[in-house]
Amino acid sequence: MSKKPQQNNVFQKPSELISNEEMDALMVAIKNRYGLDFTNYEKSSLKRGINRLMLKHNMESSIDLWSRVLHDSGFFQKAIDDLLVNLTELFRNPDVWIKLRDDLLDQYLGKSLNIWHAGCSTGEEVYTMNIVLEEKKLFNKARLYASDLSNKALEKAKIGDYPLEIIKQYLNPFLKFFPRKQLEDFFDFHDKHAAIKPHYKENVRFERHNLVHDKPLGKFDIVFCRNVMIYFDEVLKERVLNLIYESLKPGGYLIIGYYDIMPEFGKQKFKVYDVKTRIYTKA
Ligand SMILES: C[S@@+](CC[C@H](N)C(=O)[O-])C[C@H]1O[C@@H](n2cnc3c(N)ncnc32)[C@H](O)[C@@H]1O
Repeated sequence: MSKKPQQNNVFQKPSELISNEEMDALMVAIKNRYGLDFTNYEKSSLKRGINRLMLKHNMESSIDLWSRVLHDSGFFQKAIDDLLVNLTELFRNPDVWIKLRDDLLDQYLGKSLNIWHAGCSTGEEVYTMNIVLEEKKLFNKARLYASDLSNKALEKAKIGDYPLEIIKQYLNPFLKFFPRKQLEDFFDFHDKHAAIKPHYKENVRFERHNLVHDKPLGKFDIVFCRNVMIYFDEVLKERVLNLIYESLKPGGYLIIGYYDIMPEFGKQKFKVYDVKTRIYTKA
């Protein structure tokens, strides 16, 4: 009888690789060693990130992880990318972009505007914004700041070149916004990848910025912070919302993700502009 194949550790239950106590201790050690504070990240998503990291490097115990992370700073810098979730999409939640096009952006016609994409990941949200701005003839008047904690995501964002299998997934939300256009109008297609047309990068400044302890990047008319706070606990959400409040001009807009929940203290600072699309305005 053939031997039952050994179960690969990919099938291990992720929660078994590190306990909550070990994870908390590791986050405190990381904060002391590198000054990077993950202690108020939402526990379950952080744990999934740590498990991804341990599986990737075939680490069997948290002691391996502990010594590697704390003694090898090069390893740690790369590991940050595994701890963070970089999922994003072009025209993610198309109703948001339709609302911007058909309503919100009208008040900026003929004016200049500054926009901040906080937690821009690999850039799709930023390029979507530029496509929408061009559609509204606001492109030349707009300056975009795109920031993230992950260097790897930022590098990809700056290049703006995506594998075709990823680009294909963007077709449905794109067509909801532009039923009569095609992705080829905005991307240069190659064999296995497609690159955003170069002019969509001209007005964007990409910058590494940590929402947990860095200062505001400037004063903005619109701040996107979509699907970032879902990974933060209440303490961190308050800190980030205060930072965004400070960064918005009077009457400016904050756009959060569909799964982000505006906490009670946030509701004092930001009033709902449109419930469906999760757009708020500075109170
Ligand atoms: C799920 S992605 C969201 C991307 C995009 N905003 C969207 O909704 O499609 C979350 C991003 O937040 C970034 N992030 C996590 N913690 C951060 C922090 N403290 N400062 C800045 N960015 C952070 C991650 O690196 C990741 O790229």
